[in-house]
Amino acid sequence: MDRPAAQVPSPQDGFSSNVVNARSIMKRPEEPCSFIIFGASGDLTHRKLIPALYNLACDNLLPPEFQVYGFAITPMNDESFRKDMEEAVRNSKEASPFDLRVWHGFAKRLHYITADFEAPDGYKQLQEKITSYVKEKNIPDNRLYYLATSPTFYELIVSKLGEHGLVTPDYACGTQWTRIVVEKPFGHDLHSAQALNASIHKVFKEEQVYRIDHYLGKETVQNILAFRFANSIIEPIWNRRYIDHVQITAAETLGVEHRGAYYESAGCLRDMVQNHLFQLLSVICMEPPVRYEGTSLRDRKADVLRAVVPINPENLADIAVRGQYGPGFIAGQPVVGYRQEPGVNPQSNTETYVALKLFVDNWRWADVPFYLRSGKRLAAKCTEVVIQFKRVPHLFFQLSAEDQIEPNLLIIRIAPDEGIALRFEAKVPGPEMVLRSVQMNFSYSETFKVSPATAYETLLLDAMIGDTTLFNRADQVELSWAIIEPLLEVWSATRPFQPFPNYAAGTWGPAAADALIARDGRAWHNVPVSTAPQKAPQVSVELTGEPIGVRRAQMPQKGQKEES
Ligand code: BG6
Repeated sequence: MDRPAAQVPSPQDGFSSNVVNARSIMKRPEEPCSFIIFGASGDLTHRKLIPALYNLACDNLLPPEFQVYGFAITPMNDESFRKDMEEAVRNSKEASPFDLRVWHGFAKRLHYITADFEAPDGYKQLQEKITSYVKEKNIPDNRLYYLATSPTFYELIVSKLGEHGLVTPDYACGTQWTRIVVEKPFGHDLHSAQALNASIHKVFKEEQVYRIDHYLGKETVQNILAFRFANSIIEPIWNRRYIDHVQITAAETLGVEHRGAYYESAGCLRDMVQNHLFQLLSVICMEPPVRYEGTSLRDRKADVLRAVVPINPENLADIAVRGQYGPGFIAGQPVVGYRQEPGVNPQSNTETYVALKLFVDNWRWADVPFYLRSGKRLAAKCTEVVIQFKRVPHLFFQLSAEDQIEPNLLIIRIAPDEGIALRFEAKVPGPEMVLRSVQMNFSYSETFKVSPATAYETLLLDAMIGDTTLFNRADQVELSWAIIEPLLEVWSATRPFQPFPNYAAGTWGPAAADALIARDGRAWHNVPVSTAPQKAPQVSVELTGEPIGVRRAQMPQKGQKEES
């Protein structure tokens, strides 16, 4: 289904012409909806789902007759579930300020079923509760199921939904729909992802399935599409002729926190690279879609994954580095190493850092290296895409042998301090031709004066509306697993080349990752640690780097005659 056109608010709506409130242009779903959360007593429900739904309630964006049915094994009733969720919203950093009046209206919509995912009782209760409500209200029985459990239950729950007749085809009899949102991780490797897709397709049609990757709901990731395809100056230079290489970084200062047990079976390659980093790679590399809607957009993104040059297990050392953090310091505070984290094997060889060099073998990108890296407990929280342009072909400024003009950089900051920066060379004011790199910054929050909706708000709303544009399709998930499959196989079968831990918490990762990019005569773009959390001004020009002077001998000195 098409993504609805954004309604741009006018000055009469209280906005100046270029200040847009993100939520004011979100569309309220028109059709009633029952939202069923499997795993409602879990972490995701507390941290993401309920705060996002509450925010939508604050902005009056929930559908009419919206009801939530929590379903989990932890014993609770409607009342204790509501209390628990109230606490979750009050404690959430992502939730709008707590408003008792909104909360009362929202809490009435929350219900809970204590049940085992295997036994029929819970599914029967669920069916009874929903059907009695929709009959009483005389509304269509639209359902959005959400799998927020451990992935080990996904196939079981889907098959039980089918077995108990709780799934109708989308718009059965033209009036009602059933959809399912599947959380990541979607599979553990290519084989398990294919098996999960096959199990889901026995019960749901592909158009009913919403595979979530929260990176796609981020404003800044969607803004990459706007930046690339709504600005005519970008397209002519967005290719191998002008771009030297691309770096995609998702660096975190956080460790594995309380998720040691999960992380032990996942590692950074599965947790971040296969999904989030490949999503960024896809939006950076994709060809222009015909329209901004699910099929066109996802076709073009899948083309990118199809074009990634397969990883050759024979030369892994040249293109991939894995790392694991040891003890160190984050923001001046000592932190333990990964092997000392709760739930982690003290001999663990699970990677908490990955650096990869990939190529996208198509007309636009042939021979342009894409360097991807992600890691926990790194020096700064920073998710960004850096496009480094080629150097100018000829320099008529004559520089000394040590001086090098910096190449232009386009930095797309996904988080924090969302925005875009362009680095270029400028003449330093004065009589001599002295060059220096300067940086022009665009800051999302400063310019639009709005806190963007969280990724989950956007994505939940889209699923209720029936817009698949920002969700993963079966083929995309399988293609991205296929890319990393050779790495998964080799890394699970072999010990790391350099024994773990191989980087200290609070640094930029293993030395081998610096060597990987240095071999190509390049270097990682590391944000300065001290300034990383600071807000950049709205649109500004900052001085960066050192001044580069043209050799004085080449410049006519004051009072000296120019040669004719
Ligand atoms: C999740 C991973 O998908 O993304 C986490 O499981 C990671 O390990 C998180 O911390 C990062 O998300 P963000 O939005 O902070 O970049």
